[in-house]
Amino acid sequence: MTLQERYKFVSAEEAASYVNDGDIIGFSGFTPAGCPKEVPTAIANRAEAFHAEGKEFKVGMYTGASTGDSLDGALARANAILFRTPYQSNKDLRSALNDERAPYFDMHLSSIAPHLRFGFMPKPKFAILEVCDFTVDGELILTTGVGISPTIAGLADYIILEWNHNHPKELRGFHDIFEPADPPHRLPMTLLTPSDRMGVPYVKVDPTKILCVVETHRDDEVGGFTPTDQVTDMIGQNVASFLANEIKSGRIPKEFLPIQSGVGNIANAVMASLGTNPEIPTFEMYTEVIQDSVIELLRNGKISFASGCSLTITTPVLKAMYEDLEFFRDKIVLRPQEMSNSPELARRLGLITINTALEADIFGNVNSTHVLGSKMMNGIGGSADFTRSAYISIFTTPSTAKKGNISAIVPMVTHVDQNEHSVNIIITEHGVADLRGKSPLQRAEEIIENCVAPEYKQMLTDYIALSGPCHTPTNLHACFGMHSQFMKTGTMLGTNWEDYK
Ligand code: COA
Repeated sequence: MTLQERYKFVSAEEAASYVNDGDIIGFSGFTPAGCPKEVPTAIANRAEAFHAEGKEFKVGMYTGASTGDSLDGALARANAILFRTPYQSNKDLRSALNDERAPYFDMHLSSIAPHLRFGFMPKPKFAILEVCDFTVDGELILTTGVGISPTIAGLADYIILEWNHNHPKELRGFHDIFEPADPPHRLPMTLLTPSDRMGVPYVKVDPTKILCVVETHRDDEVGGFTPTDQVTDMIGQNVASFLANEIKSGRIPKEFLPIQSGVGNIANAVMASLGTNPEIPTFEMYTEVIQDSVIELLRNGKISFASGCSLTITTPVLKAMYEDLEFFRDKIVLRPQEMSNSPELARRLGLITINTALEADIFGNVNSTHVLGSKMMNGIGGSADFTRSAYISIFTTPSTAKKGNISAIVPMVTHVDQNEHSVNIIITEHGVADLRGKSPLQRAEEIIENCVAPEYKQMLTDYIALSGPCHTPTNLHACFGMHSQFMKTGTMLGTNWEDYK
């Protein structure tokens, strides 16, 4: 039997016509990698047509993480979001959720799939999945992102496939798909190294649930990275020298440990620095997103293996990789986020985790998500999945933002994503603060001395003196004084502690 005989092939518009107001959808992919593109846009168009007739049309959305503009952007612009979780990074979706047009709840990425199975959130009616190949008996070969696809495919009543011919069928074999049993029947995840496997290369579904198939030719919508600059280069070099020194001192074993690296421009720059530092040995990655810099390092041998949840790489780099796919076959594996972000595996493998803060406070609490405590930037992503279970957890940030008007180091963070008990090291372009084995006051001194921009050092030193002798020098009137000053004047410079005495 051929695929055409077995399944119904339709246009994106027809596939979207099965979706109605109030339906809940789980989407494949992780970051813009591996997300469906044509059906979500067609659903957004359907929503707009309903709205034009004065009718309600909104859908609930589960994704692996952020998605592409034709998914998150299109549905946000159409005001078609009933609820959305988890991580997002689309400009229009960010505006929608910060304007209360799209209810959003932020979750640890490792928790989405199990919480769906446990019934903590309503189950999806549809799973819309991008595939590069599939079979008449329901074996689905995913593309560049795995995310929560195995779980939503299992839970959904109906599956809509986007068969994207821009991804080669030869991706079969790059995925390691495994879904653990739920407690009390859960067994250990057995990986002992990043390159071990414990699953199968496909998502197996009941073929009778496949409602229809839409054929597409669309590239992933992965944005380019801002080129590195002096600040990100310095941060990268500081991370590399810190790790080299840890190896020399014996605190990291000489054979090194697998690296997890976060998302964004700074993370990409940090990876590039690790790759060029001769004191850093060849290493493996056990991470969530495999970004452009990792592909280059796999090619030149500095990285020997990368396990991730997605290939979040720009189209030219992906196309070049596809031309050379056999080179990468034994060097890359893609897994569901329940595995890639598993705290059990992070702890067992001894990950060195490197993530990015928007702001950190002088005690080591980190905010990666909320600007001035109230506006959502992207979300917590997998940063806490990794940080809490790390061998060494590192946070990087430029010491200032917005042309020096914001100090990234503040007396108290306006939102806590990682707390002082989980954060070991903070690194800016100025240096490294090692928080291990230090009291709150000692941590504050270490961070101010090594990480704070020169123009904010005295301000933060004076803040500590405001509280008098205590365990954690905090002044409840003044702790957000630098933020208040920024809101009043557009800069944290000039914060005057006399106002708070
Ligand atoms: N206050 C206000 N704005 C700030 C800020 C602060 N303290 N610090 C940074 N910003 C702004 C920057 O000015 C920039 O704004 P712009 O887009 O208008 O230029 C924006 O935040 C992003 O900063 P950038 O320096 O480009 O960092 P990035 O691309 O490396 O992203 C995070 C940084 C924190 C947003 C990103 O890493 C993230 O979303 N992390 C959370 C999830 C995570 O860690 N996932 C990884 C787990 S595997």
